[in-house]
Amino acid sequence: MWKRIDQFLKRQALNIDREQELYMNRRGFIGASLAFLGICFVGSFPFVARATRNGRHEPAAPALRIAGLDELGIGESKPFLYPHDNEPALLIRLSEKEYRSYHIKCTHLGCPVYWDQASGKMTCPCHNGFFNVEDGSVLAGPPQRPLPAVRLDFRKDGIYAVGMKPIEGHEGV
Ligand code: FES
Repeated sequence: MWKRIDQFLKRQALNIDREQELYMNRRGFIGASLAFLGICFVGSFPFVARATRNGRHEPAAPALRIAGLDELGIGESKPFLYPHDNEPALLIRLSEKEYRSYHIKCTHLGCPVYWDQASGKMTCPCHNGFFNVEDGSVLAGPPQRPLPAVRLDFRKDGIYAVGMKPIEGHEGV
């Protein structure tokens, strides 16, 4: 009889411990999950603020006169810095009325890209990267992103750089 009582008490003790343990595990899990979600929520504030600012309030780049209307012959190019002194760009005249302009820092590892009139391609000599002069898109080589295109404006006194085109869907001028 003592043995049966002893077994009964042990069973009860084990049940109480297990239920208590499960209860504590559930509470701990829920608490940890809520804490994790809270940290993620608060931690995302700077990224959300930055994305919002970039999308809506990007400051306009100043207009900069980069060439006279007849300064370049067809097929010629002219380097300039825009919109800052550390951002080299190139103006290219493709035909009587067609011009293109791009930043010429290669989107692979930053080597200077040049206009190769003979091949008709924007060329990066470092790792044989090639870009389409029509829209700056990658033709070949390791670069994964197109050359950023400069927006052009044709005024009475010359050709002006007036900002950067969005990376997607820029179609040249
Ligand atoms: S830096 Fe231009 S292809 Fe590598």
